[in-house]
Amino acid sequence: MGSSYVILTVTLLLLAGFLPPSSSASSSSLTRTSQRFQFNVEWKNVSRLCHTKPVLTVNGEFPGPTIAVHEGDNVEVKVTNNVARNTTIHWHGIRQLRTGWADGPAYITQCPIRGGQSYTYKFSVIEQRGTLLWHAHFSWQRASIYGAFIIYPRMPYPFSPPFQAEVPIIFGEWWNGDIEVVENEMMRYGGGPNSSDAYTINGLPGPLYPCSNKDTFIQTVEHGKTYLLRIINAALNNELFFAVANHTMIVVEIDAVYTKPFTTTSLMIAPGQTTNLLLTANQVPDSSGMFVMAARPYLTSVFPFDNSTTIGFLKYKDTRTKKIEPPPTPYTSLPYNLPKMEDTAFATQFEKKLRSLASAQYPCNVPKNIDKRVITTISLNLQDCPVNQTCKGYAGKRFFASMNNQSFVHPSMSILQCHYRNLTTSSYSSNFPEKPLSAFDYTGVNPLTQNMNTEFGTKLLEVPYGTKLEIVLQDTSFLNVENHPIHVHGHNFFIVGRGFGNFDAAKDPKHYNLLDPPERNTVAVPTGGWAAIRINADNPGVWFIHCHLEEHTSWGLAMGFIVKSGRDPSQCLLPPPEDLPPC
Ligand code: C2O
Repeated sequence: MGSSYVILTVTLLLLAGFLPPSSSASSSSLTRTSQRFQFNVEWKNVSRLCHTKPVLTVNGEFPGPTIAVHEGDNVEVKVTNNVARNTTIHWHGIRQLRTGWADGPAYITQCPIRGGQSYTYKFSVIEQRGTLLWHAHFSWQRASIYGAFIIYPRMPYPFSPPFQAEVPIIFGEWWNGDIEVVENEMMRYGGGPNSSDAYTINGLPGPLYPCSNKDTFIQTVEHGKTYLLRIINAALNNELFFAVANHTMIVVEIDAVYTKPFTTTSLMIAPGQTTNLLLTANQVPDSSGMFVMAARPYLTSVFPFDNSTTIGFLKYKDTRTKKIEPPPTPYTSLPYNLPKMEDTAFATQFEKKLRSLASAQYPCNVPKNIDKRVITTISLNLQDCPVNQTCKGYAGKRFFASMNNQSFVHPSMSILQCHYRNLTTSSYSSNFPEKPLSAFDYTGVNPLTQNMNTEFGTKLLEVPYGTKLEIVLQDTSFLNVENHPIHVHGHNFFIVGRGFGNFDAAKDPKHYNLLDPPERNTVAVPTGGWAAIRINADNPGVWFIHCHLEEHTSWGLAMGFIVKSGRDPSQCLLPPPEDLPPC
């Protein structure tokens, strides 16, 4: 592991049967096939940055295997846990209509798969096409257990030009140390987590890191050809900017939903988000044949963080040279079109350009009217240190995070199971506050003078089937304002509005985009601002809503969301599968 150049060639994609169906496919060919996969969770020694350590993998691969299916397919993934640690897998962004049992977040929809046990995730891929990801959803195992989830459409792509090949580009983070120790230390002492040691492209850090020359992602391209880049941010704790030197890209899809195409020089992508880009190899390379691509963090927090940069290369095919290796140093200078780490202006402009395709064939089904509006703060907290404990957060206290000042505590059973069986339990309650308990100047307070303690519990928001729900996610200046990628399980949502400062219920809704707002599963809420999302709550079950920065989820920046079953049998949660892991 670790010492081979990774070159995804067209041939490889062809061999793997990864190329999309021919454009002659029509909707009448929407036959459902079953696609079966076997995932073995196992340890594998991986070397990066001169460090070799065992990491948790699926089938010994790092990053994990790509799942590629067609829209409409029935998918079955048998996960066998071969390690002495609990695990679960989440199919991030897959709607899981009525099949919440297969969603994956530990203690929300299932108890973990224990060592030696197996569980088969069964679900259908309905009305979704494009790129998603899958990842472990137990503690911070996502650090190494992640991969691409590709859904080929049954109909021709609604964008042009046609592309020659597709290139998954998955960003991740690498820690030289044991990730479980990083998380445990953080939770034990309440300080910030250790930062990662590198960012990676398809598991490879690239030549700006020690011992990493050979661990460099290089993609060969042919002059004049167009490529579909499937960009996935699987990093744990950082939003990222991405650019390819001298090249522009066309955004055509986000979170497996087509968008109105637009040209951009770079990209902002939050953890949990995916973006499909068209890139045409239309530049004239110098003698190296190389153009650098780079990803580095978009920084909004004052916490220490990994400020390094991962790079890879586009290598123009040249019949004269067969050699493929990273070019010497002058070529490794960063693309001038890569935004600076603090470039909130770029992030804001970029997000503004994202719009649903909203065509006759791919309509934008944003709820025009709503049944309920929930306003929730998304906040960091500073908790008084319990007596006789050492706390390593700011001012000798400890960090937490919350929504509406409720810091989410994972129960020790599966909420979905209790909900399905109508069990009365004190482990959770359906009384998540629908607005902040007390209104204040959310983004304007001086954090140092505030009481920033939070409350702890497992409170869920419960709505009837079919509720047209709006959730306003309001950042606060507790500790610091920050961009938070909020992910909703089991539903896509529409980002109808966003802004800086405090949401104003009298004014802001007048400016909502109810025509072609972007539809996605993870929203990067502006730093020191708010985002309003609309959800058609048509998927019965229990769903996790949380910040996709792993450190914030651990601190409790999460809530549960229950959609009750409807009257019609087709509106009801299916019964649990027999092999659902016992609690
Ligand atoms: Cu990608 Cu709950 O996560």
